[in-house]
Amino acid sequence: MSKVDVLLGLQWGDEGKGKAVDFLAPKYDVVARFQGGPNAGHTLEFDGKKHVLHQIPSGIFHEQIKNVIGNGVVIDPIVFQKEIEELGPYNLDLKSSLLLSNKAQLILPTHKLLDKALEISKGNEKIGSTLRGIGPTYQDKVGRHGLRIGDIIEPDFDTRYTKLKEQHLSILDRLGFNEDHSEAEKEFFESLDLMRSFQVLSTEYFINDSISTGKKVLAEGAQGTLLDIDFGSYPFVTSSNTTTAGACAGLGIAPKQIDQVFGIFKAYCTRVGSGPFPTELFGEEGESLRKLGNEFGATTGRPRRCGWLDIPALNYSCMLNGVTQLFMMKADVLSGIDTVKMCNAYIKDGEQTEEFPFIYTDSYEPVNESLEGWTLDSYDNFESLPSKLKQFVETIEGKVKTPVSLISLGPDRKETVLKKI
Ligand code: GDP
Ligand code: IMO
Ligand code: MG
Repeated sequence: MSKVDVLLGLQWGDEGKGKAVDFLAPKYDVVARFQGGPNAGHTLEFDGKKHVLHQIPSGIFHEQIKNVIGNGVVIDPIVFQKEIEELGPYNLDLKSSLLLSNKAQLILPTHKLLDKALEISKGNEKIGSTLRGIGPTYQDKVGRHGLRIGDIIEPDFDTRYTKLKEQHLSILDRLGFNEDHSEAEKEFFESLDLMRSFQVLSTEYFINDSISTGKKVLAEGAQGTLLDIDFGSYPFVTSSNTTTAGACAGLGIAPKQIDQVFGIFKAYCTRVGSGPFPTELFGEEGESLRKLGNEFGATTGRPRRCGWLDIPALNYSCMLNGVTQLFMMKADVLSGIDTVKMCNAYIKDGEQTEEFPFIYTDSYEPVNESLEGWTLDSYDNFESLPSKLKQFVETIEGKVKTPVSLISLGPDRKETVLKKI
């Protein structure tokens, strides 16, 4: 019997999960997304081409692998159609390699309108949502009136769709939000036809059968731990559990089936959207890191806020997820900087704390440590990396008490180094 490994983000998303899943995928038989939806943008680069996936798992370019969109995902059929069309030129046998859970919730055009209307109604307190309809769709799931992929083949689907849409329209009316969605509705129904041509099944059976027949499964997270609905910097979070627990619920896997948990982090931090960010750099410093790291959202194109690595947050994320191995991404971005920093604690009301706060306020000041920077040259393996970079890695391992087993030094699949543990 084989087990499931989980790969997830330890920060505020965009850590490089897409690249890492694509890199590891050849070791697996199944890659399965367990939560989130089109708010995600997972970038893969190989053979000089860049691909951004939103809902489709990042193992899709490896033909021998089955890719599963799990029950924990919220799926927009219109985005699904676009993604399938974009994959067209690669001649992948998607009807065979992509499986959809009949229990994944559908994002309706009116869910996106609600997302927009609710954000507008929040004024200055807005979450900075990607406006992909994520929050309202998960709300309907928990409210027990959502529609699921499995429903699209039922004879009463249109009636149920209309009922839910009418509910949405009455909320929108109360919020004074009125935007035409007739075009989107047309696209929605067209895209359902495409969806019906895919394999829609109880993927929890497929995954558990894969495990019991010795196949290797990799669960792919979206967003990051600090955006988790329970443990993130609430209310500036997404609407799902982005943690290892979310992988169990979002795929139908028992906790005892989880083996390795790969926790991904950038050598610094970024955040897109609103919410607290204690190590954030402003002005010139922030701008320069943003430029070096090309930190612009893969889904919305928004500039990402940038700051130094946050060790208390990393420790918190490792604790919540049971991380067994760390993957450090974007180490190349810090190359050439004389002094790099990491935050070891926060000062709150004159007291030092290493605990991730209930709610961050501006009074949380980072306590930073300075380390000598490095300049990246050619490298073959971990040993041939600059000594200051190796020290940076070892410092993190010491503070987080978890080994760093992969270091990423560029967006391409090949720009990756494995470190022996
Ligand atoms: P994800 O959401 O976690 O999959 O991450 P995104 O794709 O949203 O953002 C990561 C960005 O960094 C993408 O543009 C990747 O191509 C890029 N990237 C990933 N790893 C590295 C790396 O090690 N170095 C550099 N320079 N870019 C990287
Ligand atoms: P990947 O998988 C970075 C952020 C949004 C916003 C908050 C809530 O690419 O790492 P939502 O649309 O979920 O209601 O937005 O969460 N957010 C992400 N930030 N990467 C993501 O996904 C994100 N998905 C959502 O910017 O602050
Ligand atoms: Mg992303």
